[in-house]
Amino acid sequence: MQQKQVLLLTKPIKEKAIKELYYKELPSIATICIADLGCSSAELNNLSVVSELIHSIEKARRDLGNGRQQDYQVYLNDLPSNDFNTIFGSLSSFEINLKQEMGDDFGHCFVNGVPGSFYGRLFPNKHLHFVHSSYSLMWLSQVPKGIQDNKGNIYIARTTPPNVLKAYYDQFEKDFSTFLRCRSEEVITGGMMVLTILGRKSDEQYTKESCYEWELFANALNDMVFEEEKLNTFNIPQYTPSATELGLIIEKEGSFTLDQTHVSEVNWEANENQKNKSVNHYDFVKCMRSVIEPLLISHFGDTVIEELFDKYMDIVRVSMAQEKNVFINVTISLTRKE
Ligand SMILES: C[S@@+](CC[C@H](N)C(=O)[O-])C[C@H]1O[C@@H](n2cnc3c(N)ncnc32)[C@H](O)[C@@H]1O
Repeated sequence: MQQKQVLLLTKPIKEKAIKELYYKELPSIATICIADLGCSSAELNNLSVVSELIHSIEKARRDLGNGRQQDYQVYLNDLPSNDFNTIFGSLSSFEINLKQEMGDDFGHCFVNGVPGSFYGRLFPNKHLHFVHSSYSLMWLSQVPKGIQDNKGNIYIARTTPPNVLKAYYDQFEKDFSTFLRCRSEEVITGGMMVLTILGRKSDEQYTKESCYEWELFANALNDMVFEEEKLNTFNIPQYTPSATELGLIIEKEGSFTLDQTHVSEVNWEANENQKNKSVNHYDFVKCMRSVIEPLLISHFGDTVIEELFDKYMDIVRVSMAQEKNVFINVTISLTRKE
């Protein structure tokens, strides 16, 4: 899974941010409140992030010689359709492991599920100390309006006209500003957020590295027998921003300081060195499927899904035999202003 690799890749940024936060703001706080937004339930990446964050804080606490047991309130958020029960089912072993790893002077960790959209309020005022989100904020609250000229494409593509590019950016700006405004109410002054978003390196809105997986998917859709109208009205509610665009929106919204930006890349294939390449393609396609299957079913119905993903697998296999495909990750670390 790419997300797992991304979480590893961004570990130093998260560690640095949370340690700084602890040294500056948290030694006297009885319960540290942490939220992971868009946590999903797949592979339980959410709990490994939480465990990593708590390890960093516990290390900072011990380094400071703070002998007081620290309690944690952890919030795992996703849309209400997320399978929270899978997460809840693994909580008891998570808590036992945490206690064992941390030793006797570890306090308590209370974990809560928070169903709802992060484009609305999720927490009380000035409640959170640290917010994390990975591979979620590129999902828009809706497909942008006014993109009917993007015929034959399902996302930004080589042939996308300028008015459609603008519509995608405008929707992202609106959504990301709303996200910042909501979090600005919920995060304490001096509190921090580390957000990793699937994005792009270039300032050009169309780049192969940020659009190609959807261009290949559009090829698979175009190979199926659908009415033209049905095909033309299917679009992906996603936007892959550049670091520059994120910086501009953060400055304009005004509630957070941008402390650090880090751009990295991961291969589409989960493990480049693995011998059996078809297994890798399967992982990649499975991951894409988990993201878009509900959108496809609601637009095209569920009878087409197997054939569609078989076609996509074939197209991905051919592409990967010929070229190296990567995802770009933009990670930003932010502090809530006074
Ligand atoms: C690709 S998964 C990332 C999961 C996890 N953070 C990781 O890194 O493995 C994206 C998640 O974002 C969630 N998501 C998308 N839009 C959301 C929204 N508006 N509010 C909350 N969660 C959202 C999806 O439901 C999905 O579980």
